[in-house]
Amino acid sequence: MPTNVLVTYATKLGATASIAAAIGAELRSEGLQVEVREIGAVLAVTPYDAVVIGSAIYNGGWLPEAVRFLRRHERRLRTRRVWLFHSGPIGPSSHEEQPVPPEVARLAREFQAPPVKTFAGELQADAVLHDRDLERLVGDSRDWHEIRAWSRQIGTTLKAAEPTTSP
Ligand SMILES: Cc1cc2nc3c(=O)[nH]c(=O)nc-3n(C[C@H](O)[C@H](O)[C@H](O)COP(=O)(O)O)c2cc1C
Repeated sequence: MPTNVLVTYATKLGATASIAAAIGAELRSEGLQVEVREIGAVLAVTPYDAVVIGSAIYNGGWLPEAVRFLRRHERRLRTRRVWLFHSGPIGPSSHEEQPVPPEVARLAREFQAPPVKTFAGELQADAVLHDRDLERLVGDSRDWHEIRAWSRQIGTTLKAAEPTTSP
């Protein structure tokens, strides 16, 4: 039986959804069984062996529905492989790791998850109308190569843990 993976994400404007889709596609190409779902559409994590959870960052925080998800499923996530990412930085500082909000850091420790991965984001013009400072940063900084490489590491880790079928 292939490992069942959930990739779930919280987004306001869609940039994080596309990152999650790319993670899902990469894991599928590694032979894993993968579902990619918006965080509000996930009722339970019990069907999955591993869960990848991501949120867009706004004003230094994760979207509230993502933090609620971590809290709501805390007990079950403790017994699953968990990876966390957040997406946000844009423009000249797009390669800077972003601080992990304290509550997310606490939960990540509970899940024994690897360090939260920062991915660069995309800032759409519609999101920053009339904000001169942010307008300068409009653009797409997402690094698909980095996203795929991170996903491949997850795939390799999960496949290494799969039971081998005897000949
Ligand atoms: C009002 C506003 C506040 C933001 N605050 C942050 C922030 O604190 N840290 C960060 O890294 N990115 C920040 N961003 C950038 C977003 O995280 C980035 O555009 C992200 O890719 C959006 O993801 P989404 O399309 O999935 O909602 C902010 C963007 C806006 C419009």
